Amino acid sequence: MKFDTPAGPNPIDRGRVVGIPHDRIEGAAKVTGTAPYAYERHDAAPNAAYGWIVGAAIAKGRIASIDTRAAEGAPGVLGVVTHANAGKLGKGDMNTVPLLGGPQVDHYDQAVALVVADTFENARDAAKLVLVDYSPESGRFDLAAERMNGAIPPTGFNGPADTRAGDFDAGFAGAAVKVDQTYTTPDQSHAMMEPHATMAAWNGDKLTLWTSNQMIAWGVGEVAKTLGIPKQNVRLVSPYIGGGFGSKLFVRADAVMAALGARKVGRPVKVALARHQIPNNTTHRPATIQRVRLGADRNGVIDAIAHEVWSGDQPGGGPEVAAMQTRLLYRGSHRLTAHRLVTLDLPEGNAMRAPGEAVGLLALEVAMDELAEACGIDPVELRIRNDVQYDPEAGPQRPFSSRKLVECLRAGADRFGWAKRNPKPGQVRDGRWRVGMGMAAAFRNNIVAKSAARIGVDAQGRVTVETDMTDIGTGSYTIIGQTAAEMLGVPLDQVTVRLGDSRFPAAAGSGGQWGANSATAGVYAAAMALRARLAEKAGYAAGQAIFEDGLVKQGNQSQTLASLAGREGLWAEDAMEYGDLDKRYAQATFGAHFCEVGVDMDTGEVRVRRMGGAFAAGRILNPKSARSQVIGAMTMGVGAALMEALDVDTRFGFFANHDMAEYLVPVHADIPEQDVLFIDELDDKSSPMKAKGVGELGICGAGAAVANAIYNATGIRLRDYPLTIDKIL
Ligand code: MOS
Repeated sequence: MKFDTPAGPNPIDRGRVVGIPHDRIEGAAKVTGTAPYAYERHDAAPNAAYGWIVGAAIAKGRIASIDTRAAEGAPGVLGVVTHANAGKLGKGDMNTVPLLGGPQVDHYDQAVALVVADTFENARDAAKLVLVDYSPESGRFDLAAERMNGAIPPTGFNGPADTRAGDFDAGFAGAAVKVDQTYTTPDQSHAMMEPHATMAAWNGDKLTLWTSNQMIAWGVGEVAKTLGIPKQNVRLVSPYIGGGFGSKLFVRADAVMAALGARKVGRPVKVALARHQIPNNTTHRPATIQRVRLGADRNGVIDAIAHEVWSGDQPGGGPEVAAMQTRLLYRGSHRLTAHRLVTLDLPEGNAMRAPGEAVGLLALEVAMDELAEACGIDPVELRIRNDVQYDPEAGPQRPFSSRKLVECLRAGADRFGWAKRNPKPGQVRDGRWRVGMGMAAAFRNNIVAKSAARIGVDAQGRVTVETDMTDIGTGSYTIIGQTAAEMLGVPLDQVTVRLGDSRFPAAAGSGGQWGANSATAGVYAAAMALRARLAEKAGYAAGQAIFEDGLVKQGNQSQTLASLAGREGLWAEDAMEYGDLDKRYAQATFGAHFCEVGVDMDTGEVRVRRMGGAFAAGRILNPKSARSQVIGAMTMGVGAALMEALDVDTRFGFFANHDMAEYLVPVHADIPEQDVLFIDELDDKSSPMKAKGVGELGICGAGAAVANAIYNATGIRLRDYPLTIDKIL
């Protein structure tokens, strides 16, 4: 099914099941520990051996020699895999560097060996006996020091590296009010709950991987390419995932090493990355340096806007696209955005929740706060004055599909009680605490991607949906079930949802906040096909049949789904594909964050006292799971503002803090009241679901609202994240 004209009225609009705040249908299994993760699939391979990954002890150089004899002779050891005995491996398209290193070493903790043993403890013990002799080389580890060597990165990451409109230099020079500031954000780690883990089993030349992965179809392709085997010989199974945040968009060393280990020892092998291996072995969100320039008139109306971003990655890697939102968020005739990429020999950088905007808004939205103050205008009003209903780089011929930023700003400010804010910093006290309020706009691109599903009904009238879509804790099971129930006119408990298996039709996967809208649209397409089959079988006209209460109806006639399905059941499969609506219309999601902080002026301690936000993201498929996504993302925004940072050891080239004791993320006690309001919106140009993504929107701008609240509380303007005590005192 192709979506290339705006969606008219359709069965989803009935809203009997879609749009209802249903509990997650797999929720009880997840919170009671009965939803098995990849590493726990004892049922699937009871005789699995255990693999432990040996990581490189240098950041760059070569392996001069590797001696595995002592490890091989250790108790319980079944085999050791290294580059010397793994055979020739290909390289997937999505990882920048090989997942098994050697003889070249690309980064610290890159896998250089896998020790397989009968027990986990034996594998881990024997790993210490693998003797690797390195010839280290010097590397580049310091973004700030390398900044002047930035190159224009390759295009293809959701737009060109640079954009220009008008004449920025002239426009900025002539502006009555100017802001020109530089902001920095650190490397960050996804810190998802479930570490990367895979269990691999070969059956002849066919490989099954029970793994924790956001993108099943991508993963199949990557594994096939790496191992040099046909795609049809690879099966990925990933029905339950303990969080991803982008860390599991691509297969990692656990998957490839488990497959190699299982082949080597001739029995299933499971491999998990220990928590301390994750920051250096896998990917992270790259650090950025961002210069933002805003030129406005005395009323705060922006005429010139520029955002330049520097980040680093391994050779062949990509930039952190932190200027993306600046292309679309505010008006201004003179515009410039640019990304520059330096080569670093740190672990590979890659996507983390809202890659680009999550850190881009940490800079832009503080710059906007600085502009509001310079103009003497309320920060909410400043953003309203700079709203634009079309792509400001392309002009009015490219309107937004829907854009309710102003509605979010007004409704959010109202609910939060923004009018009570004292605009003068450092004025409000509560005992030892200085109290302040800050706000920021939220913006995240809306992407749609092809997604397939199959759907069937059986002789009991029960509906089953199968798609390789994943649920990384987001609620995919539930919204997919709701979509199927709505389309076929049955209650949600009459629907079985099966996800995360490459034997099912290929879905859009969980990434870039496109998963909910795209995957449910794929279910919509399959359900339309099944409705046509059911109507045909009933002898009704496909366009006139009504599906409700387990019946297919036409006029005063009706037949049950169960009777039409018959003993064999009836199935249909289809995909939703997209034309060029996203080129004709700019598509994005919007919101407004508000935050109140207290800052202890003796200790510099910052406490978030409350947060609130209003968000417009098309149809909200399930207000309960959508709210969960937004408050989780707001929490991650607080982490980015106040505590999260991978600390780079610029001498030896690794992240020095690599566990949850030293990579700090917010805990419950750090997060008080969070209020989420969704603005009514249907986006008929996004998909037949009229929904948009919401899983990443909540982090976008949240941290800037915290930073701006600290300024309002104290008069101290911080531009280098995280905003830790040492920077406040
Ligand atoms: Mo997201 S960073 O595309 O999982």
